Amino acid sequence: MKKKKQTPAERRAALAKLVKAAKNERAKNKNILRELRDDPGMATEVKALMRADLKRVSEIPRALLGPSSSRRRYRELGYYSCSLVDFLFGIWAEFQRKSGLQPTLATRTVLRNISKTSRAQDLAHYADEHVTPWDGAYPKLKIGKKPFTILIASDFHSKFCNPFALRVMHDINKKYQPNAIRVNGDLPDFPQLSVHRQFPGHFPMTVQDEIDWSVDDVLRPLRKNNPKADIKYLLGNHDIRLITAIADKGPMFASLRSMSFAKQFQLDELQIGLVCRSNFLHLSAKQRAYDVAQNWETLFAPDGRMLWTTVHGWLGGKDSPRKHVQRFMTNGTNGHLHDRQVVSAGSYSTGVLDWYQTPCMAHPAAVAAGYLPGPIEFNAWSCGGLFVTIFPETGHVHGEFFMVGKDVATFRDQVWRITQRERDQIAEMLEI
Ligand SMILES: [Fe+2]
Ligand SMILES: [Fe+2]
Repeated sequence: MKKKKQTPAERRAALAKLVKAAKNERAKNKNILRELRDDPGMATEVKALMRADLKRVSEIPRALLGPSSSRRRYRELGYYSCSLVDFLFGIWAEFQRKSGLQPTLATRTVLRNISKTSRAQDLAHYADEHVTPWDGAYPKLKIGKKPFTILIASDFHSKFCNPFALRVMHDINKKYQPNAIRVNGDLPDFPQLSVHRQFPGHFPMTVQDEIDWSVDDVLRPLRKNNPKADIKYLLGNHDIRLITAIADKGPMFASLRSMSFAKQFQLDELQIGLVCRSNFLHLSAKQRAYDVAQNWETLFAPDGRMLWTTVHGWLGGKDSPRKHVQRFMTNGTNGHLHDRQVVSAGSYSTGVLDWYQTPCMAHPAAVAAGYLPGPIEFNAWSCGGLFVTIFPETGHVHGEFFMVGKDVATFRDQVWRITQRERDQIAEMLEI
């Protein structure tokens, strides 16, 4: 026979009765804590009684939310004081676990590991299909005896990219036809896929907008202006966000035209390879950070001497370029830090090494808004990129920055002036 449903008034009355009874019981039990201190042998017996009591409370129906064994619920309906629970069980979750109301710690660890592993497998599977096959693809750089040049630009951060800097970079590519181009990470920004910076309205681009911008405003013109260059796109921490997120939460990307990273960035059509050394098989955020640290490219002379390393970078702090050169012990460059620095290091066997930390292609004030406190000038972030000539026979490198200022940009003997349109775009960008 079906039980008759209680009216709300009846329910309230029943609960009030239970609460009153519990109050009486707690009064009777109020000396237990003191007695336990005198006779710790009682603990086992008292614990058993309390476990049964929590079970009893957890079975008392609740109208809307369903049964509960929370601390708040127990404080109302339990026969023992919460301080007694603290004394015997330490934390509330332990009281629940010991009462069989929560999975044990061991079970939870196993469950967590299962979900982590399956997540890591999804990610590795996705990367296997859509990312890592393009690692090192479309090699067009033949390193022989003749000097060769590389144009390096990093940290565009899509919406925050300085349009003036972008024009200068494309001009340099067109005019000087570098043998290689390295888009050294943080091409899109993908704030939606991050735990940082989510102010409403701060970032008006969708994930698809950012990808389209990366292709249409950066990658395609780079290829068009320099059809023979060896172009590589090194994945930085912001670029990797997309890969992790797609593999992780596919449905959230229902609006994307394609789920394939390689297709989205048109790597085949533009004949652009990736630098992506990670297998993406990682289980934790810490290991994910490791992916960026793994992501470098070293160019070698035909006889095996190391000539040049490009890495997006992961070692922070004021001494960042020095930390990077000490890891690689080659001439090279990192991005990621957004401020320009050149340091020299080396050893008896390597000789003097030059390491260039490139400025960013983003507008420093725009990309910093929202997460760097104080005036951005203080952090010395600057705008521009690097053009390097490498002499394989001797290992000599000659690096030249192109620097983009507020009104003027310079490289070698060339001077660019900002247009009114670019000025307006920047002003608009800073307003967001
Ligand atoms: Fe960056
Ligand atoms: Fe970065």
